[in-house]
Amino acid sequence: MPSRFHQSQRSTSLSSRSVKLMTCGSVDDGKSTLIGRLLFEANLIKEDQLAHLKNLSKRHGTSDDQIDFSLLLDGLSAEREQSITIDVAYRFFNTSIRSFRIADVPGHEEYTKNMVTGASTAEIAILLVDASRGLSEQTRRHSFIVSLLGIRHIVLAINKIDLINYKSDAVSKIVSEYKSMAVPLAFETIMPIPISARHGDNIIKKSQKTPWYTGTPLLQYLEEIEISCSEPDGGYVMPIQWVNRQNSDFRGFAGTIAAGSVKPGQKVVSHPSNQTTTIRQIIFGSEILPSASTGEAVTVVVNNEIDLSRGDVLAAAEAGIDVSDQFEADVVWMDSELGFSGRPYWMMLGSAKINAKITKIKYKYDLNTLAKLSDTKLQCNDIASITIKLDQAVPFLPYQTNRKLGGFILVDRFNLRTVAAGMIKHSLHRAANVRQQHFDVNRAARESLSGQKGRVFWLTGLSGAGKSTLANEFEKALHKKGLNTYVLDGDNIRTGLNGDLGFTDADRIENIRRVAEVAKLMVDAGLIVITAFISPFKPERESARALFDEGDFSEVYVDAPIDIAEQRDSKGLYKKARSGEIPNFTGLFSSYEPPLEPEVHLTTSILTIEQCLTKLLDYFEKLQ
Ligand code: ADX
Repeated sequence: MPSRFHQSQRSTSLSSRSVKLMTCGSVDDGKSTLIGRLLFEANLIKEDQLAHLKNLSKRHGTSDDQIDFSLLLDGLSAEREQSITIDVAYRFFNTSIRSFRIADVPGHEEYTKNMVTGASTAEIAILLVDASRGLSEQTRRHSFIVSLLGIRHIVLAINKIDLINYKSDAVSKIVSEYKSMAVPLAFETIMPIPISARHGDNIIKKSQKTPWYTGTPLLQYLEEIEISCSEPDGGYVMPIQWVNRQNSDFRGFAGTIAAGSVKPGQKVVSHPSNQTTTIRQIIFGSEILPSASTGEAVTVVVNNEIDLSRGDVLAAAEAGIDVSDQFEADVVWMDSELGFSGRPYWMMLGSAKINAKITKIKYKYDLNTLAKLSDTKLQCNDIASITIKLDQAVPFLPYQTNRKLGGFILVDRFNLRTVAAGMIKHSLHRAANVRQQHFDVNRAARESLSGQKGRVFWLTGLSGAGKSTLANEFEKALHKKGLNTYVLDGDNIRTGLNGDLGFTDADRIENIRRVAEVAKLMVDAGLIVITAFISPFKPERESARALFDEGDFSEVYVDAPIDIAEQRDSKGLYKKARSGEIPNFTGLFSSYEPPLEPEVHLTTSILTIEQCLTKLLDYFEKLQ
């Protein structure tokens, strides 16, 4: 028998599900007051809370001797002290008709991140506008984010109508301005409601003071609005969370249904393996279900052996699942560390975790004008359109079709912080038309002919640390041994292949990306490659390493402290940099991130070049 727990969970998810709301608007537009008021009117505030609130209102409130509902919400102390909300707080409330979940999203400009968190699961946005001030930059900004994140219904809550003496003219002006501003955002519904959250006008009951308003009060509107399922039902879609192999006879695929419904006998396709089968059983806990639908976490058993594992997708053929390793997507950058094209991240999409690289920052949005700006980096709170490449193809749907299969996050591979939230727009056609071509003469064949093994020695360190000098000595020594070698050197490559690149972070990242790809080709050709680049950033060195098989890539830290490198100043560049002639000079005005665990660490301020060479050759011999 199924446990009660499972039963009750299931019945909750099947009962009239809660409508997900979010509020947004500028700092002083009254979001917290509105939410407090809704909770109060929905009788969710207990007697003792109310007494406490009255007390607080006397001490901290801004509302004369009335209750200040904004004092009710989460983050109370911080918010009270700074008068801004700093985190997303979810509140739940029901009326006799519907249950609601409401996200209180901060209005302060810096908190786009929280807004994205709130918006990514919401269905209706209550956008507050201060009637006495009219539309603000935040109104446009928030509307854009809300539309980007797939919210199709807007309630334009024109608040503080008490401050404009309940007059209709200002309200009509705001409504018409907003409607024309929102045209490109293509919302399905925009419902303007004049309210006073503080005094309760048009929240629960129609206000006597706005006879010119012919619509329903806010709560009634929220209870009645038809939310056409924002994700069109193209059929069953379920990302696989895990494969349940309870015993040798049982193989079930567990996941949460992201769209549509499923029943036994139904034809389904596995992605990316693209095999067709039919559903044999749907299991919830220990219960066998006749069907299951969106939002339910179930295990399905199918009738044929198919290739399906965590991160894959099981779906109806008509669900339109596509498989690709390159996308165009919108991203909201959320990290204080800048984002760059060429830098590696983890992409978490559905239940898949994949190596990903931004291949291009196409444009950034100016959030105030929605103009498209070009840039080479992504800063915290930027919203940009990018292209992205994965190291394996994944099943997906465009975000506007399905948030679960089109929404992703990017995670820093080193500190595991979420750096961006993204929304897939479409796959890139070029991905579909390019295939790795097979050639019969491969690396092994070349290596057996030359009798040597291809490898890369990646020298990194400050300018003047001795990379090029050491690369030269190392190559000569290997050459003497009869080995085929090649040195890729920073200054040299920058006069040819990378002649278009400068020394901004973005250009250095691209510099290293190209060099790593060239080194990879050379190793495939069976050569011993020595690279001599500052390669100042750890993620790029790691992503260079990731191109090679274990053992084929050796990081060599050519280590001279900055003062020694500057004293040497072999090319006179430190002097020039100090005099302001070279901006972004590494070690002075641009950072160098030393390797933490290089295969070889050569301190050139202590060891002579001969000693360094001996150490490197010893290491080389051990590799053989
Ligand atoms: S990297 O940072 O992108 O890896 P790379 O190794 O290719 O740099 O080039 C570094 C060389 O370019 C230095 O040895 C120096 O000769 C020259 N150079 C010119 N401008 C700069 C700069 N701003 N910072 C560092 N090196 C510079």
